[in-house]
Amino acid sequence: MPSMKASSRGGCRIATTWLRVFALATCLLSAQAMECYVCNNQEGNDDKCIKTSRQCQQHENACYSLIEYRLPTQYWQQNGDRSHFLTKNCTSLEKCRSDSDNMAIQCNREWYNDWRCLECCSGELCNFYATLDGYRMSPGLRTVSLLSAGSLWLLFTFSM
Ligand SMILES: *[C@@H]1O[C@H](CO)[C@@H](O)[C@H](O)[C@H]1NC(C)=O
Repeated sequence: MPSMKASSRGGCRIATTWLRVFALATCLLSAQAMECYVCNNQEGNDDKCIKTSRQCQQHENACYSLIEYRLPTQYWQQNGDRSHFLTKNCTSLEKCRSDSDNMAIQCNREWYNDWRCLECCSGELCNFYATLDGYRMSPGLRTVSLLSAGSLWLLFTFSM
């Protein structure tokens, strides 16, 4: 009987050790392999910009979103209105902050002018959001508004 007690205590100690190893490994891995959303000069904060991500390199401890508000450059859209073009990738926080400061003068967010803003953040996939019109337009919010528009339409159609 006493021997069985001892072995169960031993098992418990082993479990705790493995738990510690696991916790440490998880911690190290998450510190090493941060991810950011990536896209290149894409119109609007959807599709690739919120669905594609990449593993950052060791020295890249931050994510960025570059928002450029301008006329489309493609010739077939030449008569279109200004819209938001997004570029996202990994970076280092230091570089991102200094680039962002250098760009500050162009970051006026006037609807009648071209502007560009660089947003930096640190954390796993933290560049999901991008401030488009001075407020945060989440794709989720847009889905919700589409859904409510859809149900209103249904309601309207079937009450006729
Ligand atoms: C992101 O940056 C890396 C280099 O840091 C580059 O090779 C890659 O093409 C960039 N991704 C996009 C989608 O621009």
